[in-house]
Amino acid sequence: MLKRFLVVALAAALAGGMGYAQSDTNAPTTVNKTAATSGKQMYANYCASCHGVNGKGDGPAAAALKMPPTDLTVLSKNNNGKFPDAHIVAVLQYGAEIPSHGSAEMPVWGPILGKMDKANPELKQIRISNLSRYLETLQAK
Ligand code: HEC
Repeated sequence: MLKRFLVVALAAALAGGMGYAQSDTNAPTTVNKTAATSGKQMYANYCASCHGVNGKGDGPAAAALKMPPTDLTVLSKNNNGKFPDAHIVAVLQYGAEIPSHGSAEMPVWGPILGKMDKANPELKQIRISNLSRYLETLQAK
């Protein structure tokens, strides 16, 4: 239920943001379309609500989720010290693996990010890659 609400709210916010960009009206928006070049800006707008500003999984929406958002600062630590770039890219593109004990609450970002730049479909991969690179900067030393 809540997941659906969050995803719908996010989709509506994104659609609103795009409507704003395309129609050039002064419609108010809650989530702006971010620069594809800034992983930091994308993270702050799309991920921090659940994963927390610092990636530790303590965002304001986290308490309402059945499954706690992954602590994104220990991705490298949990992968023998190497940042799992290919895995992160796949998760963002296709969604997290559905755990056996419940439904995944992590949104599937590929389609959402893909809709942002209809005229430049290649930007979707750039967005995903820059998000992954930003997550790499959050890794605990
Ligand atoms: C609605 C809350 C929510 C939002 C928004 C969200 N996540 Fe998640 N994320 C989760 C939850 C819950 C999990 C852990 C459970 C799961 O795998 O489904 C997770 C897991 C992950 C994982 C680990 C997956 C794995 O298999 O190792 C990564 C990486 C991740 N999120 C990145 C992101 C990024 C990047 C964004 C923003 C583009 C984002 N998340 C936005 C809730 C969210």
